[in-house]
Amino acid sequence: MLQEKCSILDKCKIVNFPKITDLRGNLSFIEENRQIPFEIKRVYYLYDVPSGATRGGHAHKSLEQIVIALSGSFDVVLDDGSERRKVFLNRPHYGLYIPPGVWRELENFSSNSVALSLVSQLYDETDYIRDYETFKRLIKNGAWK
Ligand code: TYD
Repeated sequence: MLQEKCSILDKCKIVNFPKITDLRGNLSFIEENRQIPFEIKRVYYLYDVPSGATRGGHAHKSLEQIVIALSGSFDVVLDDGSERRKVFLNRPHYGLYIPPGVWRELENFSSNSVALSLVSQLYDETDYIRDYETFKRLIKNGAWK
């Protein structure tokens, strides 16, 4: 029997946030442990990204993350060391959940885009894997199995 290979990328999911439509303008909200599966320890955002720039370029050992295109649009390239999947984000009422152990790159930012990240940990450089070869070795050794 053919066994389908399971990838950590299958754990990356689009999360829909509530959207209250109103003639005065729409409203969405995000509640910790409700719309997202972790406690929000930190929020950061990318903005004024020049055309053609790439952000990210790392994986995390244990941090969980939701990325939202609060304004404009961009691509998130997800990579498990052997396969790459591209997710286009362009609406503020949904986000992309990224678990630990996934290499990510953010690219193709539209002008005036804002990439909001909600994450499960305070900033800690020791949680980052910034070298792709090291990431591939950790994946191969089953670091996130
Ligand atoms: P970096 O991880 O390269 O940004 P990205 O992966 O989103 O493109 O971070 C750029 C710099 O900002 C780096 O020196 C670390 C610092 N930084 C903080 O001090 N706190 C934070 O919460 C984040 C996300 C980055």
